[in-house]
Amino acid sequence: MEHSGKQQMKILVVGQGGREHALVWKLAQCEGVEKVFCAPGNAGTDIDGENVNIASDDIGRLMSFAKHNEIDLTVVGPEAPLVLGIVDEFKAQGLKIFGPSKAAAQLEGSKAFSKNLMKKAGVPTAAFDTFTRLEEAEVYIDNLMEDGVVVKADGLAAGKGVHVCSTKEEAKAAAASMLTNDAYGAAGRKIIVEECLEGEEVSILAIVDGDTIIPLDTSQDHKRALDNDEGPNTGGMGAYSPATSVDAETMDTIIRDILVPTIHTMKVEGTPFSGVLYAGLMLTRQGPRVLEYNVRFGDPEAQPVLMRLDSDLAQILSLAASGRLDELEELKWDPRPAVCVVMASAGYPGSYEKGRVIDGLEDAGQLADSKVFHAGTVAKDMQVLNAGGRVLGVTAMGESIPDAKQRAYTAVSKITWDGAWNRTDISDKA
Ligand code: AMP
Ligand code: GLY
Repeated sequence: MEHSGKQQMKILVVGQGGREHALVWKLAQCEGVEKVFCAPGNAGTDIDGENVNIASDDIGRLMSFAKHNEIDLTVVGPEAPLVLGIVDEFKAQGLKIFGPSKAAAQLEGSKAFSKNLMKKAGVPTAAFDTFTRLEEAEVYIDNLMEDGVVVKADGLAAGKGVHVCSTKEEAKAAAASMLTNDAYGAAGRKIIVEECLEGEEVSILAIVDGDTIIPLDTSQDHKRALDNDEGPNTGGMGAYSPATSVDAETMDTIIRDILVPTIHTMKVEGTPFSGVLYAGLMLTRQGPRVLEYNVRFGDPEAQPVLMRLDSDLAQILSLAASGRLDELEELKWDPRPAVCVVMASAGYPGSYEKGRVIDGLEDAGQLADSKVFHAGTVAKDMQVLNAGGRVLGVTAMGESIPDAKQRAYTAVSKITWDGAWNRTDISDKA
């Protein structure tokens, strides 16, 4: 076992959102973990672990912190430091770190790289082409059979670079905004135009060490701001696990036709993938199709998924970082479903208000089988203030999805701040 050599591990989690609080909380409970740091963290990660005041993309300072504090394992939450190459830099210094290399992080960092990899691997995805010239994109859009077209900026655009268009005119305008009006800066100077898929969306996360693939239980995000999937896209307003729309047969298809060829092709191409492979899928009538790959845990999917994980997360991530996932025993899951409801600041996903005092966290924290994960929060003068758009991920387990939902919303009802809001229908799709 990975732990037998050294009993007391020190772990550094990089990031500051709800996903990172869930990671800190879970890792701190693992046997053999002495201490979990979080850089820069939020008010919640400083309770379950200890915050370190270093930004998540300040790779140099993160490395010297890891060295001076004898960190045994660094776990990277968000995509930005991965795409910048944090894993390569840590490894070059002999520091153990969980996540993909800079080259492998292109699966999320460049949608063109990702789509071309899927094409090479024969992974089912929407028909597409990539463009840097507007005239060529317009001709392609004109020649499409259907009116529904999706236009995507190639690079990272904080989740905003995807336009799902219902007419060709709209699609051409989206392409022009990216290619000629620089709507997303350098990230949008190359674009992907692809067919619009219909179906139910699910998130499949797998832990990978370059070779071995360990799928986690399924989950479903709720990307739109308002109930019934209306309103603008957000980072995710809630999630539940497991996703009832994925049965055992569909999961087998996803592993065989999507995860295995992707990881195999990454290896063959000389960019082996290690870390979390997050496949955002559309379950279409023709079968599962990949909408996008991310190279990290989903936020808020990590909150309900990690709450249900009964295996030792520190051991899993440590073995993955060492290329030894084949030694891992089968994962154990709490059979009870979990539901996470995101509470957001007034104005989110647009510009939002910060600095309001959050009340009721203690009351909510006393409820059984539930946990209030912090996302955009800071502690100040013994109070907790909102400091981001998505503020809390209130998560609960229950005997059934409706029971878990009810427990999560009971906890939500205890918490207030000026302008707080949330969707009221998380998990109803199940
Ligand atoms: P992405 O960042 O690529 O996951 O896209 C963000 C969201 O846009 C997805 O979660 C889907 O809801 C939607 N989307 C992306 N690609 C497509 C597609 N080809 N067809 C329909 N919806 C899509
Ligand atoms: N919940 C969507 C994401 O993490 O990208």
